[in-house]
Amino acid sequence: MDKIDFYTVFAGEAGCIKVKIMKDQKIAILGGGNLGASIAEGLIKSKFIAPERITVTRRNVDALLPLQSLGVHTTSDNEEAVKRSDVIIVALKPYNVKEVMVGLRDHFDPLRHIIISVVTGLYLKDLMAIVGNGVPIFRAMPNTAIAIQESVTCLCHVGGSLEQAEYVSSLFNQLGIAISIDEKLMDAATVLGACGIAYALRFIRASTQGGIEIGFDAVTANLIAAQTVKGAAELLLKLKRHPEAEIDKVTTPKGCTIAGLNEMEHQGFSSSLIKGIITSYEKIGK
Ligand SMILES: NC(=O)c1ccc[n+]([C@@H]2O[C@H](COP(=O)([O-])OP(=O)(O)OC[C@H]3O[C@@H](n4cnc5c(N)ncnc54)[C@H](OP(=O)(O)O)[C@@H]3O)[C@@H](O)[C@H]2O)c1
Repeated sequence: MDKIDFYTVFAGEAGCIKVKIMKDQKIAILGGGNLGASIAEGLIKSKFIAPERITVTRRNVDALLPLQSLGVHTTSDNEEAVKRSDVIIVALKPYNVKEVMVGLRDHFDPLRHIIISVVTGLYLKDLMAIVGNGVPIFRAMPNTAIAIQESVTCLCHVGGSLEQAEYVSSLFNQLGIAISIDEKLMDAATVLGACGIAYALRFIRASTQGGIEIGFDAVTANLIAAQTVKGAAELLLKLKRHPEAEIDKVTTPKGCTIAGLNEMEHQGFSSSLIKGIITSYEKIGK
């Protein structure tokens, strides 16, 4: 996707003029681990932002050398990162957040900064209590496919303008698809989107195991199973088809597909998936 510019329109004496906003932002990513580094790489690959406008932090700064070689500014100094930047992405482990953010709270400027937290299970009210000075706060729940810019990222926020919300949405649209939701659905988003990657991978793994039993070597079976799932997903995403309509197309009367599919359902296929999703959801709430 091309880099997007953001505008707001003012009606002045000379008529409507467009003023660029939320452009040329500098982004800090606090916690350049798996997710933080993936976000930086994705933003650079998509040309959403130039590498030199990104600062990534972690204590073991040597582990950030691959990002540094792309032109990203790397440091172990979170305070420096906040001072250099406008958009602060928090990609720390949940148990690190309070300690790090309390130490930075005096450096957040509500007129300059926005905070985007990707930390699982940390609510907006908790973040507000930690940061505490009216700085707009966004929560984002991506999944591991963010590493290849194919995440689904659910977003909610407290404070912030429409432009800021659009900016955050566009940032995560560079890394897959962004969806705005109510915060009360964030746990559900975590289960369906983030845990969902594991459910889908287990489906592929099980298909591979079946494929081996009917004659393929493991590598070929895995390739066929993975590409088949990708193709099925693309039919829904690109052609906006309904899953059952696509299933009807491949289930010949008295054929092998419907026989196998019905046997899976007799064994509880859909039911076990739904029960698993509900079990994950109940667990996350505890
Ligand atoms: N992975 C996912 O797909 C995913 C999806 C959704 C949400 N999340 C959430 O995203 C967050 C990060 O997950 P992750 O998988 O990326 O974890 P991770 O790989 O452990 O990354 C966390 C990073 O924080 C750094 N760190 C620790 N203390 C720090 C400090 N004081 N200042 C700066 N950096 C510090 C650590 O590096 P050093 O030890 O070198 O400092 C580490 O690299 C978690 O809260 C997780 O719940 C992850």
